[in-house]
Amino acid sequence: MSLVVAPLVPQQSSHVQVAIRLRPHQDDCILKVPQHPVLVIPEKKKQYTYDHVFDDTNSNEDVFGPIIPLVQSFLLGYNATVFAYGQTGSGKSYSMGSDGENDDGIIPLALNMIFERAASQFQHEYSCHVTFCEIYGDDVRDLFSKQLMTKVTDQLTKQKVTSADKARHFLQKGLLHRTTAKTKMNSTSSRSHAIFTLELHQIVSPTQKLTSKFHFVDLAGSERPKKTLAEGLRFKEGININKGLLALGNVMNALSEKKPYVPYRSSKLTRMLQDALGGNSQTLMLACVSPAKANLNESLNSLEYAQRTRKICNNALVNAQIERPSIPPLIQSELEKLRAEIARLMVENKNLQDCVANLTVYRNQKPTQEYIWQSEEVRSIVQATSTLLYDIVLQGTIYLERLGVHACITVTRHPRTKKFRQAMQAHPMGVFVANLGFVLSCSFIYCVDIVCPNLL
Ligand SMILES: Nc1ncnc2c1ncn2[C@@H]1O[C@H](COP(=O)(O)OP(=O)(O)OP(=O)(O)O)[C@@H](O)[C@H]1O
Ligand SMILES: [Mg+2]
Repeated sequence: MSLVVAPLVPQQSSHVQVAIRLRPHQDDCILKVPQHPVLVIPEKKKQYTYDHVFDDTNSNEDVFGPIIPLVQSFLLGYNATVFAYGQTGSGKSYSMGSDGENDDGIIPLALNMIFERAASQFQHEYSCHVTFCEIYGDDVRDLFSKQLMTKVTDQLTKQKVTSADKARHFLQKGLLHRTTAKTKMNSTSSRSHAIFTLELHQIVSPTQKLTSKFHFVDLAGSERPKKTLAEGLRFKEGININKGLLALGNVMNALSEKKPYVPYRSSKLTRMLQDALGGNSQTLMLACVSPAKANLNESLNSLEYAQRTRKICNNALVNAQIERPSIPPLIQSELEKLRAEIARLMVENKNLQDCVANLTVYRNQKPTQEYIWQSEEVRSIVQATSTLLYDIVLQGTIYLERLGVHACITVTRHPRTKKFRQAMQAHPMGVFVANLGFVLSCSFIYCVDIVCPNLL
């Protein structure tokens, strides 16, 4: 069997969905949610509208709501990406369920739903694998094998998973190797960007396969050394985190402003998220923000960032492969010949159709209609009737009626026509042939274009 990539089915392009989550906060709350999905900052007289806004009255299950359509698309063969963005300590790992503690974050809930739906909806064979990596500094590390990857395109360790439990087990296993550390802002601060990927292979029929990937990205948070009181290694990590996020921000800006050049290659993070941003994926960004007054500037940054992200358009495609049985060489060459013959006949058919269309136009022309100069046409008619013309010249007017039928394709607007109008009116039985040099009437020969007298 030969494997052929099927024509991909485009989905309607959609903008990156953006959900905002305000982490719980007691006093000094300066971000308000007057009504979903609107968010206001009275102090700055600012108002933002997103696809979804969640505050401390919302649970992790509520935050999972906008992910459900992505799960459904993923099961249909589309790539999907959810990434959490925000200041350090704003609740990204908590919301994603990649903090190693809570079991009702986005990743565990999505895994539950994917395996439940696959079991109840799929009539066909399917299999799942997970990979897990972190980008620490500018190194990509496989969180299953703990190996550093030399290239972004290197294959990560794939773990086969047959249930949500198994997939969650590998999530926890990988998280044990993720780089986290205590800072002043967060006792379990993620010091790396982590990408957990679930890959689904479906054998829809003996000839059709679907492969889709669901990326869950828990970014490290932007941070100010002044606030995290980071020193030494932590300080260096903070700088690298901000560098990666800056590269991501530049990509977002270029995409949202539809610039011709998008700097995906400026960091490993942006290269790995290339499809999620402006590519073949349905994507949701969860921006986590703190409503505390002390974090106003960082929250404003995140909210503006989220606004820009909303302008990014993706064009997700079904990732399908079609297997066709291979054809014996003899039949293959016969097929080629038949294809060539079909192509030739199609051209011939097209030409014939054009001829028929032209003839239909002529047939439907009324005598009052203006005709266009058709020298080729006239020439061919005259050529076809040249023997007849010769007879006419020799034998007088007996063939005039027959010739008149042929000469119905005529020119009335040719400048010379007018000149001979009178002559023709004077000899209404006349047939006038130009270019060849004949004009026949009952008794004269003129030199004009072919004109049928009743068209004048
Ligand atoms: N919505 C929430 N409800 C309850 N607790 C929360 C919520 N959001 C965050 N937290 C708590 O706040 C702390 C910091 O959250 P988390 O580690 O998820 O932040 P983060 O954005 O991942 O930060 P970093 O960028 O440093 O990794 C954690 O103890 C977490 O349990
Ligand atoms: Mg975190």
